[in-house]
Amino acid sequence: MRISKRRWTASSTPIALQSIPIASGGFGSWEIALRRRMHTAGDLAGLYDHTSKNWARTSRRFRLETAYRDPLFASGVAEALTRPDARVLDCGIGSGSLSLALASITTEAPDYHGIDTSGAMLSAADAELRRAGTVAQLRQSDVRAIPYPDCRFDVVMAAHLLEHLPEPEVALSEMVRVLKPGGILFACMTRRSVFGTFVQLRWRTWMVSERQGIAWLRESGLKDIGVQPIQLGFGAGRASTAFWALKPVGTVGASRNEDVTPLGGPLR
Ligand SMILES: C[S@@+](CC[C@H](N)C(=O)[O-])C[C@H]1O[C@@H](n2cnc3c(N)ncnc32)[C@H](O)[C@@H]1O
Repeated sequence: MRISKRRWTASSTPIALQSIPIASGGFGSWEIALRRRMHTAGDLAGLYDHTSKNWARTSRRFRLETAYRDPLFASGVAEALTRPDARVLDCGIGSGSLSLALASITTEAPDYHGIDTSGAMLSAADAELRRAGTVAQLRQSDVRAIPYPDCRFDVVMAAHLLEHLPEPEVALSEMVRVLKPGGILFACMTRRSVFGTFVQLRWRTWMVSERQGIAWLRESGLKDIGVQPIQLGFGAGRASTAFWALKPVGTVGASRNEDVTPLGGPLR
C-alpha cells in the first residue's frame, strides 16, 4: 500500500481548523472522530472558476432563485430594502441566484454589491444580472476580508457559502462588521440529507444543522434569529436551511439577546 506523503505532512495550523467533522463515535475508553480536510481558499476559487460555465444552468436546475424567494420574504429582507438608499451585499455571489431572487421580489432598486473569490463566477454573475436588468458592483474578494468599511449595508447575505469555510465564524464576524446596526444578515446553508452528503463528498462542505447555524449567528452577536427550511428542485428536497438575524442597534460586541424563532417564525 502506498501512503501519500502529503497526507502525513505536519502543518502549523491545527487540524481542527482546516477540517470538518464527518462522523464520530465511542467504544469503551476509545473515541473515534473522522474529519475531512477542506479545500484551501485558492483551490476552491480554482474549482469554482472551472465550474462557472455550468453554474447558472445548475442553479436553474435546482430552482435556487425560486427557492430563495420565500425565506427572503419571511426574513424581512425585501422590506428592509424599501429604506431610502438601501445597500445589499451578496457574499459568494456565484452566478447571482440570490441577488436575482431578491430583485424579483422587490419593486425598489437597492444598491447591489457582490463579492466572490472566483473571477469566472463574477463574470457569470455580471452576465446573469445584466440579462435580468439588475446592475451590481462586483469585486473579487474573500468573505473573510470584505473590502468595505464598517456598518455599510442594510442587508448582508450569503447562499451556500459558509459551509465551504473551515471557520464560518470568521466570515460571519466580517459580514456583521459591514452590516448597519438594525440591518439583516441572511444565510442559506446545506443541511444533513442525501443531497447534502453528495455535496459534502463533492465539495468537502459542512452539513449544517439548525442548532449549529443558530449557534454561529448567536456567537456573532446577532439577535432575533429566524430559520426556515428550503425546498430545492431536481429531487434534492429540503436540502438547505435559511437563517436570518438582526444586528442589534447600539450593541458593541456579542449580543446577550438569545431570542430564537425556529422553523419559519417571523423575524420581528
Ligand atoms: C455554492 S456556490 C453558491 C453561489 C450562489 N450564492 C448561489 O446560491 O448560487 C459558492 C460560491 O462561493 C464562492 N466562494 C467560496 N469561498 C469563498 C470565499 N472565501 N469568499 C468569497 N466567495 C467564496 C465560490 O466561488 C462560489 O461562487
